[in-house]
Amino acid sequence: MLLPWVKTLWGRTMSSETLINAITRLHELIESARASHEPEANAAALATTDGPSGRPTVRTIYVHVDDEDIVFFVNAASGKGRQLEWNAAAALCFFWRHLAQQVTLDGRVEILDDEKADALWQKRTRESALAARASRQDARQGDKVTLSTRYRTEKERYDFSPVERPEEWIAYRLLPERIEFWETGWHRMRMRTLYERQFDGQWEMRVQEP
Ligand SMILES: Cc1cc2nc3c(=O)[nH]c(=O)nc-3n(C[C@H](O)[C@H](O)[C@H](O)COP(=O)(O)O)c2cc1C
Repeated sequence: MLLPWVKTLWGRTMSSETLINAITRLHELIESARASHEPEANAAALATTDGPSGRPTVRTIYVHVDDEDIVFFVNAASGKGRQLEWNAAAALCFFWRHLAQQVTLDGRVEILDDEKADALWQKRTRESALAARASRQDARQGDKVTLSTRYRTEKERYDFSPVERPEEWIAYRLLPERIEFWETGWHRMRMRTLYERQFDGQWEMRVQEP
């Protein structure tokens, strides 16, 4: 009989402190990736599903991770914006080539309150905030000239003042149910650590090896 591919080394049930540890670990990985000059260290693939058909779709987004929260911004009129309104289930996948590490997360999202969303929005670069204001995701993008005209209008409008978050740009907080760290190692020395929410709300951590 074939041995199971994954052998659990140890596992135990712990409180939500375990979840905080996992989020802190993710935060630290993003900072390490930044320090190792990984381009777009806080970018991840976001998967959502289309309500009626259940068809999954995926795209890259920027994710803000601090020691407690995992938050991303989406335009409510975009494909993912509409999908998350139908179905709050979402999954994220980070991969940092320089660190040879992957982190996957899945769970449900909730809308972050305006005050926190505005504070996080202000952490975007000025160019990114202006570009977000200039884009109209509910309609087909016009030509590049139209987009740059809108960008220039927003730039002049805000001059040197802080660029406001447009109300259609919603901050979603991911409430994870699973977080998996996969240290790929380039020589098949993989190590996986799975943090998983149990039925009773407690979090369990399991370290696994190939
Ligand atoms: C590096 C990178 C970062 C991005 N960050 C965001 C983001 O934070 N929010 C967002 O809505 N789209 C972001 N985008 C654009 C999305 O990938 C996507 O193309 C767009 O939002 C439309 O997706 P949708 O039609 O599936 O909703 C980013 C794209 C790239 C390449």
